[in-house]
Amino acid sequence: MNGQFPHTRLRRNRHDDFTRRLVAENRLHVDDLIWPLFVCEGHGVREAIPTMPGQVRVSPDRLAEHVAEAASLGVPALALFPVTPEGKRDANGSEALNPDNLMCRGARALKEAYPHMGLIGDVALDPYTSHGQDGLLGEGGCVLNDESVAILCQMAVLQAQAGFDVIAPSDMMDGRIGAIRTALDGAGLGTTRLMSYAAKYASAFYGPFRGAVGSGALLAGDKKTYQMDPANSGEALREVALDIAEGADMIMVKPGMPYLDVIARVHERFPVPLFAYQVSGEYAMLKAAMDKGWLDADKAMMESLLAFKRAGCNGILTYFAVEAARHLRKQ
Ligand code: PBG
Repeated sequence: MNGQFPHTRLRRNRHDDFTRRLVAENRLHVDDLIWPLFVCEGHGVREAIPTMPGQVRVSPDRLAEHVAEAASLGVPALALFPVTPEGKRDANGSEALNPDNLMCRGARALKEAYPHMGLIGDVALDPYTSHGQDGLLGEGGCVLNDESVAILCQMAVLQAQAGFDVIAPSDMMDGRIGAIRTALDGAGLGTTRLMSYAAKYASAFYGPFRGAVGSGALLAGDKKTYQMDPANSGEALREVALDIAEGADMIMVKPGMPYLDVIARVHERFPVPLFAYQVSGEYAMLKAAMDKGWLDADKAMMESLLAFKRAGCNGILTYFAVEAARHLRKQ
């Protein structure tokens, strides 16, 4: 300090655009983006999801066309979710093991059209169960762990055989990463990667997604006996440590924005590829304010995504993937 004039003035590096660009610590790149999308039954279907403006459900025959822009913009990977009609759901989620289910048909269509795009398959039973829970129900309605994991293992093998490069278990059963790794290796699928939804919270921010896939209205109760309590973050570190020990290649924290502290803690502790899922409710919340003109759409979108990079993520699953890739191309 020289009198009241400090030698170190942090504003100097903010003085103009070139300096700000030189000192920027984090940057969003198209390689950081994973686009979640919804596949539904039928032919020629492309229908809007009212609670997720800009996102649609498409039938397998229209997937390739739907993904064309993402592919040409260089979005590296897609995460596919099925909209299983009620008639195909049952208590055990048996449609999950149908080799011709929506996920498998979708994967085949996408891999044929874009063999070099990464394809991430969600593994959990909720899109297929009549009760909307992620696993099998036991007495008194409790979600059975090991019995559910046995089905998830078969599901993972089936999805990998259909063309998914990455299996992403989103069910939060104990021990499923190790069991699925063993099942994949046993089926000769040693290169299939595992992206674990390691710290997935029992969150209110999944509402629009559950509406989009049709499991919201079916869900009786909640998922608090397997998804994490929003009050906890030390427990997230234990979940992540277990999944790494069980063979996870990549780790995910979900939701994203309300859990940036968890992401930062995981990043500080574990040198593992780390991803955030900016979930449907976060997207809906931002979109609603953008559509009303209350937020500048591009600026709020890019700031929300950059926050994940700053917290320590390698990449982000986001419904903004295509819009963000478009914006990055313009810059
Ligand atoms: C299913 C699953 C959910 C999401 C991804 N996989 C919903 C849930 O756990 O109820 C939510 C994604 C989103 O909200 O965008 N296991």
